[in-house]
Amino acid sequence: MSGPPIRAHVTGWGRYAPAQVLTNHDLEQMVETSDEWIVSRTGIRERRVAAADETTASMAAVASMRAIRTAGIDPDEIDLILLATLTPDYWMPSTAALVKEAIGNTRAAAMDVAAACSGFVYAYATAQAYITSGMARHVLVIGAEPLTRFLDYTDRNTCILFGDGAGAVVLSASDEPGGALGIEMTTEPQGAYMIWLPAGGAKSPPSSKTIARGEHFIRMEGKETYRFATRTLASTALTSIQRSGLEPADIALFIPHQANIRIIEAVAKGLDLPMERMFVNLDKYGNTSAASVPMALAEAVNGGRVKVGDRIVIVAFGAGFTSGAVTIEWTADPARGIAGDAAVRPDEIKVRLPVDWDSVDPIPDALAEVMRRPGLVDVPLDDVVPGDLGLPAQEVRS
Ligand SMILES: CC(C)(COP(=O)(O)OP(=O)(O)OC[C@H]1O[C@@H](n2cnc3c(N)ncnc32)[C@H](O)[C@@H]1OP(=O)(O)O)[C@@H](O)C(=O)NCCC(=O)NCCS
Repeated sequence: MSGPPIRAHVTGWGRYAPAQVLTNHDLEQMVETSDEWIVSRTGIRERRVAAADETTASMAAVASMRAIRTAGIDPDEIDLILLATLTPDYWMPSTAALVKEAIGNTRAAAMDVAAACSGFVYAYATAQAYITSGMARHVLVIGAEPLTRFLDYTDRNTCILFGDGAGAVVLSASDEPGGALGIEMTTEPQGAYMIWLPAGGAKSPPSSKTIARGEHFIRMEGKETYRFATRTLASTALTSIQRSGLEPADIALFIPHQANIRIIEAVAKGLDLPMERMFVNLDKYGNTSAASVPMALAEAVNGGRVKVGDRIVIVAFGAGFTSGAVTIEWTADPARGIAGDAAVRPDEIKVRLPVDWDSVDPIPDALAEVMRRPGLVDVPLDDVVPGDLGLPAQEVRS
């Protein structure tokens, strides 16, 4: 006897942005650039930088606990943890495994997903498949990146673009209508070397030579990437919308990958929609790769831009070249997110360190200079109201 089809609804969402801010004016001290150039060519004004004791896993764990609190479930109810990142803490174990331990989950399978800036959308689609096939009931999908550790601060073409952060959602099985309506994913390997990080892998293992040649930093062909993005984002979004039986005009809000305001404007133009339908927060965070879509999604929902019944589209592109889009019918009470964020303090979450850990400083020299400046402000998430939890208090496991 077959029941109603299983759907995957977003029941939880959360994000984490490190407190330290690196402004365009700070970058003016480091490379030949200007605030005016960066703002006019990209829309980015500032980005966040993870502190020395923060890692991919620690940022991911905070965003995850916020998403789990928003969903109102116990961490141990999660069956599968998918962590999208191009900056894992280690080659092995997976960063997802570290997050599993940090959030106090004993049951879930955990793995990382490597699809660069499209990683979160790819992981979301994977979670969707697990849930609708009956293989999982609750899946935690995370995007987390400390990208500022992989940038060449002598290369003004790349170092101005990227920042650090994490975002997460919980997808839960439901027999009610809603959740993902249509999904599209593409990979075009002819663009493989347009954005890449040459050394450290099997093709070119780390050595003093690879370090001397600066091959452990992100490299990018900006113009080619820009062309791919403007061509592909709108078409990928459109295919996902059409698979849902909808038109672009039916979509209340697009949550595009936050790479460049001009790319997002091109998507709006390509779909013949006003910019008000595009959510933008890249001015504050820059491009946080796999973290960008879930951070933007959580901010959009908490900021009142999404309501129950809205159709929204998450859409991303990135190295590979990859692209992906999911059209989603929103079903969760948006008010839960602010309380979920506020219920979890970053210092409550502990990621276990390796036994032989002896004070590694992962901050690049050029950045360390800026980060040592006095009077660094601790910027909280702007929409968190401390003390206003709204949810029943639950113990945070660590
Ligand atoms: C990188 C990017 C912002 C550059 O913008 P652009 O308008 O294409 O700029 P150009 O590359 O044509 O450079 C124009 C000039 O500005 C200079 N320039 C580049 N970076 C600069 C900076 N940070 N500050 C000042 N000048 C800069 C260039 O050297 C060039 O000078 P030249 O004409 O004397 O050679 C843009 O190509 C882009 O956003 N590409 C996509 C990147 C992306 O999204 N990557 C992530 C994918 S997930």
